[in-house]
Amino acid sequence: MPQARDAGSGRGVNRRQLLLGGAAAGLGAAAAIGADFALASRDRASSTSAADADAITGSDAVPFHGPHQAGVPTVPQAHTAFIGLDLAPSTSRDGLRRMMRILTDDAARLTQGVAALADSEPELAIAPARLTVTFGFGPGLVARAGGTAPGWLAPLPVFSIDQLEDAWSGGDLLIEIASDDPVTVAHTARMLLKDARRFATVRWRQDGFRRARGTERSGTTMRNLFGQVDGTVNPVPGTEDFDSVVWVTDGWLAGGTGLVIRRIRMTLDTWDELDRVGREASIGRTLSNGAPLTGANETDEPDFAATGTAGFPVIPDFAHMRRARGDGTERIYRRSYNYDLPPSGDGISESGLIFASYQADVTAQFVPIQRRLDELDLLNQWTIPIGSAVFAIPPGCESGGYIGEGLLK
Ligand code: HEM
Repeated sequence: MPQARDAGSGRGVNRRQLLLGGAAAGLGAAAAIGADFALASRDRASSTSAADADAITGSDAVPFHGPHQAGVPTVPQAHTAFIGLDLAPSTSRDGLRRMMRILTDDAARLTQGVAALADSEPELAIAPARLTVTFGFGPGLVARAGGTAPGWLAPLPVFSIDQLEDAWSGGDLLIEIASDDPVTVAHTARMLLKDARRFATVRWRQDGFRRARGTERSGTTMRNLFGQVDGTVNPVPGTEDFDSVVWVTDGWLAGGTGLVIRRIRMTLDTWDELDRVGREASIGRTLSNGAPLTGANETDEPDFAATGTAGFPVIPDFAHMRRARGDGTERIYRRSYNYDLPPSGDGISESGLIFASYQADVTAQFVPIQRRLDELDLLNQWTIPIGSAVFAIPPGCESGGYIGEGLLK
């Protein structure tokens, strides 16, 4: 059985050694990354025509109508805005229906590159760049509609690692706008919020990003701001496995799903003090290509039983991957985004992950995983959940229908 490294040997190191180790590891990594990049460029040079290099993708459109809302199974776009709204006290069940009809109409048009009705900047609507608009209902909205909420549609249990701020938590209505183009995201957000403002006010907005489209081959697993390959072990949209993990099968939510959004601050300023071996041990995977510490390629199955020369597990007991997987019974679909804001306080970064996880049953699937990570996960040293919200994502609708009609009609 392959043993790539003995990450669990727990040697005592001081800060200077860590820093020097980090620097040396950094040089090695730079060499490796340089080689990867050279190979990728060579591939590109031999396979890319001049026409590809100039390909314009702004008109690419994702169908809006269908059994599921787009934006869940859609290959993640480069930019997103998750917007949480609070319903106005005066918004009645009828008001909710009117609001969802209007917002659905806006979204159906804008995602196809057509200006919304009364669009004051219609020129900005012509390049959807795979725009999707996904709506979610919080517990407050379902209650206002007089509907029955699934048991999991409630704030998550309290976890000891949480330092939640109201400013990033809760909300009655979620609008997630995602596109490969940030101007399209901005315009769509403005248009939808203009139409929503009679019914609801913005509670929070979380903007996130991944690599720009075209920077890497499509299908490449994203990297978070720790530099880790993040999203390797994930159900694959379009498979039965994905369907069983993600889609609800009964009630007004059939064809919909449950979404957990956790805003997780990543303390890059202290992560900088950790050497490469420590960084890889904290996850149980390499930084270069995301392979498990017992393997060579990203998609290799980890060998959790493998031990190193000192007898410690190669994938440490505290490794995030080991803890998150548990016995593999609970599964979720992760579709997260990075955030990076101007620093506040003394540090030089205010960065993290807008962790977004989709599952048919939040209580049965997400909560046990989060409990395990709460109990033990070395990554907790550098990550702090500062926001949390749970939404029911209703199914999609057909042309002429509207999102949420199963609840509101
Ligand atoms: C900032 C916080 C987090 C970071 C940086 C992070 C990073 C990672 C990385 C790099 C991996 C390994 C590659 C992969 O399979 O994606 C991973 C795996 C995973 N993470 Fe996280 N993660 C974070 C938070 C969470 C949270 C809050 C949960 C759920 C409660 C979670 C659940 C998982 C799961 C289920 C896996 C796959 C485990 C397996 O191999 O079966 N992660 N994460």
